[in-house]
Amino acid sequence: MRRPLFAGNWKLNLLKAGAIDLVSALRKGLEGEKRAEVLVCPTFTAIGAVAEAVKGSEIAVGGQDLYWQDSGAFTGEVSGPMLADLGCRYVIVGHSERRQFFGDTDETVGKKLRAAQKSGLEPIVCVGERLDERERGVMREVVGRQVDGALGGLTKDELKRLTVAYEPVWAIGTGKVASPEQAQEVHAFIRERLRGLSDETTAREVRILYGGSVNPENVRGLMEKPDVNGALVGGASLKAETFLKIVRS
Ligand code: 13P
Repeated sequence: MRRPLFAGNWKLNLLKAGAIDLVSALRKGLEGEKRAEVLVCPTFTAIGAVAEAVKGSEIAVGGQDLYWQDSGAFTGEVSGPMLADLGCRYVIVGHSERRQFFGDTDETVGKKLRAAQKSGLEPIVCVGERLDERERGVMREVVGRQVDGALGGLTKDELKRLTVAYEPVWAIGTGKVASPEQAQEVHAFIRERLRGLSDETTAREVRILYGGSVNPENVRGLMEKPDVNGALVGGASLKAETFLKIVRS
């Protein structure tokens, strides 16, 4: 059985003190929670402090990005071994904001996810179409290309050690969530694509998260869909109360 994963992507928010306050409140609120896995992805500068604050709890910590080289002359970058060294278990790769503002492509996303796995991290690979692509009717083409481009060539074992996040760009930070039916349609499509890259058993084991304007009111409907295995939450993960409500849903 796939255990649902609720991941908070804090993006470029929170100084160290605020990050510790937030994760401490989550820790308190999640005591005894066994049904769902909970992950927080702070900014690089807060990861160490947050990892320290969750020690001994079930809350996992992840990075928001990484570089594919372990070390070297790459000013400003952070590598997989560095994230693992701080206590990270996960790392987000290919978030649409990285693709839009920082030049990530399917090729570099593929390199990053392989580097993450090599460092013992579980990558959360983000895919999703923009509004104009949905309106032009090329959603499947776009998402299919992103999945194949980043995940093509991975072994079945490697595919089982990653999570996919479907984040339609038009739903991110807009308050315009995908309907449960829209999400299910794309999640089923992604799973079919994973089947094409491996086999039925492997495709069934991969968790596919939905992300984009998830909040306590809409999460239940999304989670009721068979191919929605959790959520990647931005804005609503910055307040303990709302994120806890989402997890408890
Ligand atoms: P919002 O939940 O703020 O729409 O952000 C979603 C997201 O980008 C998570 O990675």
